[in-house]
Amino acid sequence: MNRTLPDPHQKGEFVQTKFASVTKRYDLLNSLLSCYIDHYWRKEAAKELADYSKGPILDLCAGTLPLSLELVKQKRRPVAAVDFCFDMLAFGAKEKLNQKKGEIPIFPVCGDGQELPLKDECIEGITIAFGIRNLSDVPKGLKEMIRVLEPGGKLVILEFSRPANPIFGPLYKFYLHNILPVIGGLISKDKEAYKYLAESIEAFYSPKELCSLMRDSGFSEVACRPLTLGIVTIYTGIKKS
Ligand SMILES: C[S@@+](CC[C@H](N)C(=O)[O-])C[C@H]1O[C@@H](n2cnc3c(N)ncnc32)[C@H](O)[C@@H]1O
Repeated sequence: MNRTLPDPHQKGEFVQTKFASVTKRYDLLNSLLSCYIDHYWRKEAAKELADYSKGPILDLCAGTLPLSLELVKQKRRPVAAVDFCFDMLAFGAKEKLNQKKGEIPIFPVCGDGQELPLKDECIEGITIAFGIRNLSDVPKGLKEMIRVLEPGGKLVILEFSRPANPIFGPLYKFYLHNILPVIGGLISKDKEAYKYLAESIEAFYSPKELCSLMRDSGFSEVACRPLTLGIVTIYTGIKKS
């Protein structure tokens, strides 16, 4: 198989380039390839912060801002939306924020989620949807998240996982490697980006491994909840008070 996964030291640049290349078709393809279920997944992830006050939330790897918007929709509060791909953030801001002229309290920041320009313990909630798999160094990213979280603050991760069901699992794997890159390639004109999506899902940590990395980084009350037969998993962890 012609593999597209980059070396860890080239991953940042590769990921930035690939997301810049598919930006304009990113939202459309997300909805199409997931049969619109991605909206439900983000709703469920945002609900994890429902019990938190109306303080600011940090949405990491925010892309074209779909989860940032869901967070504001569920509980009106400021969201700092960080992503290192300028094109994704700029497109999201232009398409989804500009026409509302400052009514939506989302503040896009172009920056690296592994080196946040924030002081220690300044934020009570962090979300990261479909972003952690794209970090070049997941343990480093998790350590940075716990650094900026206030004691008692919560991290919510939404990420693809691999369905374990003996019938659905192989069918999903076939879809991932044979259908998704073709549709993604035709619509975005960058088949490599969607081959990377399939291969990175296949190569990513299992829920058990990611929970263990979260604990190693200092998170407590770590939990995970599969959705839609385990196509995605929501992970949560708390910074000890
Ligand atoms: C699959 S998109 C997810 C976008 C959005 N959160 C969503 O729910 O659709 C992943 C995003 O992670 C961003 N990303 C990857 N590594 C990053 C890093 N180290 N720092 C900031 N953003 C990063 C990419 O630029 C891309 O926009």
